Amino acid sequence: MTKTLKVGVIGVGGIANTHMPGWAASPHAEVVAGADVNLEALEAWGAKWDVRRLTRLPQDLITAPDIDIIDICTPSNYHADLTIAALDAGKHVICEKPLAPTPAEIQRMIAARDRSGKLLMTAQHHRYQPAAIALKNEVDKGVLGDVYHARAWYLRRNNVPTRPGFVLKAQSGGGACIDIGVHALDTAFWLMGSPEPITVSGISRSELSKQPGAWSPWGGGTPIPPEMDVEELAAGFVRFANGATMMMEFSWALHGPHYEDMQVWLYGTKGGCHYPKAEIYTSGSNPRQQYDINLKYLPTPLEAHALECIDFADAIVNGRPSPVPPEQSLAVIAILDAVYQSAESGREIRMDGKS
Ligand SMILES: NC(=O)c1ccc[n+]([C@@H]2O[C@H](COP(=O)([O-])OP(=O)(O)OC[C@H]3O[C@@H](n4cnc5c(N)ncnc54)[C@H](O)[C@@H]3O)[C@@H](O)[C@H]2O)c1
Repeated sequence: MTKTLKVGVIGVGGIANTHMPGWAASPHAEVVAGADVNLEALEAWGAKWDVRRLTRLPQDLITAPDIDIIDICTPSNYHADLTIAALDAGKHVICEKPLAPTPAEIQRMIAARDRSGKLLMTAQHHRYQPAAIALKNEVDKGVLGDVYHARAWYLRRNNVPTRPGFVLKAQSGGGACIDIGVHALDTAFWLMGSPEPITVSGISRSELSKQPGAWSPWGGGTPIPPEMDVEELAAGFVRFANGATMMMEFSWALHGPHYEDMQVWLYGTKGGCHYPKAEIYTSGSNPRQQYDINLKYLPTPLEAHALECIDFADAIVNGRPSPVPPEQSLAVIAILDAVYQSAESGREIRMDGKS
């Protein structure tokens, strides 16, 4: 079958590999080229996926007339400029999370999207996990009633991603808050139906990463670079205009029991739910009911990272809106940005313009 959409991948490091099975499985799109500033990474990726058109200049893909989709997988601080250039060149863009580390950059990306008339999607793969899809269906049916409180956390005992693209603010835009916090918050916020945030209070700090000999199992075991200038821990509290509230905690390193622990809890007037267990808890005539909805939504053989690419190409071909619209990412990043502002100032941040 001839695939109509040609894809160019920019930044062919770790996460780009998880997109490749999706593009291969899509009936509509195929990868024809890759770009990376690192020649060694580029050649290894090209050999692995049999992509022969390789360049160290992202602009070569952005201006190529035969390319329809740009898939951006670079460190986060490069997302905005590359996305804007690609949209202005008439390409559709799927971009890894965080869409950009600051609200101002995302606003510029949305303006470019509007100028171009093309689709822009954030690669928030948790929305494609079977458990998340199952819960979203149930929550949208009203099974929880009015959701009035949520908890979202992503906590690692010790797994600081020691590469410069994560630990240097100039490349990442922030630490655990923006890197893994964005997964938990996006999932909770999306399940809640994207309510309007009005105030945020937060903290951020680094303690364990700054101790002598600090070490991470990341990449087979690596020292934590002393030049790391982003936070290992962030926490926050959000009030929404509809009266709902949310507590958030995100860490790369923390004395706790779990190597990796991401959870989202929603509490409503009729029920509560848990991700990733995909369980819903209700109280009715029986004292307490708990049922497992996993069985209704069997996992697919493809990973969520692949499913998001398939869905993006399908949205383009079938004229659907962006499956993860940048407006939702703007709200999520505005909350995380307010956590940083609150941590810096020691004050609660108002997001509704009131004082
Ligand atoms: N969805 C997820 O679960 C998930 C997981 C990991 C990373 N990510 C996101 O993916 C992005 C990349 O992370 P990664 O783990 O793949 O990092 P990585 O360091 O493994 O790969 C990034 C690649 O981009 C290249 N690069 C850097 N600057 C570039 C530029 N200006 N132009 C072209 N190439 C450039 C690097 O040489 C490297 O090969 C980040 O935004 C990160 O937040 C998402």
